[in-house]
Amino acid sequence: MGTFVTGSPEAAAGYIRRGGIVAFPTETVYGLGADVFNERAVAAIFEAKKRPADNPLIAHIADIGQMSDLATEVTANARLFVEAFFPGPLTIVLHKSERVPLIATAGLDTIGIRMPGFELSRRFLKECGTPVVAPSANLSGRPSPTTWQAVFEDLDGRIDCILQGDATEIGLESTVVDCTGEVPVVLRSGSITIAELRRVVPSTIVADGSDTDAPRSPGMKHRHYSPSASVEIVSNAADAIPGDRTAFIGLDRPNGNFAVVLICADVDEYARGIFEFLRECDRRGIEKVYCQSVADEGLGTALMDRVRRAAMG
Ligand code: TXA
Ligand code: MG
Repeated sequence: MGTFVTGSPEAAAGYIRRGGIVAFPTETVYGLGADVFNERAVAAIFEAKKRPADNPLIAHIADIGQMSDLATEVTANARLFVEAFFPGPLTIVLHKSERVPLIATAGLDTIGIRMPGFELSRRFLKECGTPVVAPSANLSGRPSPTTWQAVFEDLDGRIDCILQGDATEIGLESTVVDCTGEVPVVLRSGSITIAELRRVVPSTIVADGSDTDAPRSPGMKHRHYSPSASVEIVSNAADAIPGDRTAFIGLDRPNGNFAVVLICADVDEYARGIFEFLRECDRRGIEKVYCQSVADEGLGTALMDRVRRAAMG
């Protein structure tokens, strides 16, 4: 069965209401959504993406009131972050309510909640009339999709519908912050930076990845963002070795001839383009990708996190 592709948020929402799974754009990346309260639909997401069952999903909402359907308590810190950053590219982890099926949270007693700011997502989510759980709409392990065509490439025939929008604005997934304890803990970096979070709740800390016994963000331990090519990080563009099956992405121009080159004007453009660039390398049969590193600050922190994961293979 083919996948229905539409520009209509109403038509796409109809599939969610009938228990289907639908890919839709947000300001970060495209998500693959299902009604959070429909266990069969949620199970279908894991199957379509070939996602490991221990990786929890984020619930997307259209209005703040829906948080009380999902979480037992919206903590004081969570309320501050909601006020400052919703709608926007921030996911807040809270204790989940009884109503949320365990399959959605991969067995955890917490749930990540986010309210996208992108207009088309907001219209879609409003029409759905229920919170929509959605991981990124890629096959597990592949770079996240920033265009509807990338979703189509991975999931045509495996999902019910794709809501067509433009290429996503930010290009990296949301910042994830755990607000279940006294001190907020950043589990995944994103375009809302640690400095911005600290301006709202100064005690906010970043999870150190060393706590491997109990990874608080289970998804971060899985293979991620990997193209078929091997990825190497270089600090200077001049260190990239040219070749006809070699690609380069970064802020400066490398020496010599590469099969694919993307020179970005700034870190924002780099972040917006990185996942599509890695996909394009796969389409062209590239064997080696050089990614130039950027300063570990602001959006650069999230970008380098994704690039390092891509380089881990
Ligand atoms: O920008 C985004 O967040 C996109 C769009 C579609 O909203 N979604 C996304 O979902 O990136 P996904 O499933 O690819 O990544 C979700 C991340 C994973 O690292 C997962 O482990 C973490 O969030 N996560 C989700 N629920 C969690 C929870 N209850 N506790 C800790 N981490 C959680
Ligand atoms: Mg993902």
